[in-house]
Amino acid sequence: MSRSAPALRPYLPEDAPLLAAIFAASIMDLTGDDYSEAQQEAWAQAAEDEAAFGKKLAGQLTLIATLQGSPVGFASLKGTDQIDMLYVHPSAVGQGVGAALCEALEKIAGARGAKKLKVDASDTALDFFRKRGYVPQQRNTVTVGDEWLANTTMQKTLDAVAPSPPGGH
Ligand code: ACO
Repeated sequence: MSRSAPALRPYLPEDAPLLAAIFAASIMDLTGDDYSEAQQEAWAQAAEDEAAFGKKLAGQLTLIATLQGSPVGFASLKGTDQIDMLYVHPSAVGQGVGAALCEALEKIAGARGAKKLKVDASDTALDFFRKRGYVPQQRNTVTVGDEWLANTTMQKTLDAVAPSPPGGH
């Protein structure tokens, strides 16, 4: 049987608890080769206050990917030109979910007039973004709780959106 492609839909306020769970599971299960347990715990704690996490998701353009109707990942666009979050549940990695979310945000950013899209990529996601054409710009160290975490600012030049021909349909 062929693998089904993820479907995408906008975030709704009632999604917050499920996305908080996906966020924490993704960090705790997938980033252990690149970050210490203390760093993972500090990072995952950002979703512990579900109301604040939900407010952040609602304040950005947040898309949810579903497989057979169940949410398995999400991504958010901050402003017109920054991918802020991209998290896939450990049970759904390697099925094109991250790529589908990222591609959708690239199209939306392009349609909003952005020429470039930036992301502060985790070390875990660095090669995922590199594969999609993002180029490393600088290394950063950010404080999360009591921990210091490294990430890399990466940038992709977006394809120009072709204007509709005059009088075209
Ligand atoms: N390293 C190298 N290549 C990768 C990785 C990786 N970690 N993850 C995916 N790829 C490749 C895949 O092999 C695939 O290649 P192909 O097109 O040749 O088949 C391609 O990238 C697309 O893979 P997907 O299946 O779409 O990616 P997936 O759904 O597994 O999601 C993600 C990737 C988002 C990085 C996921 O592993 C994850 O959630 N990681 C933990 C959380 C994290 O670090 N998120 C990013 C935080 S930074 C930020 O949010 C901006």
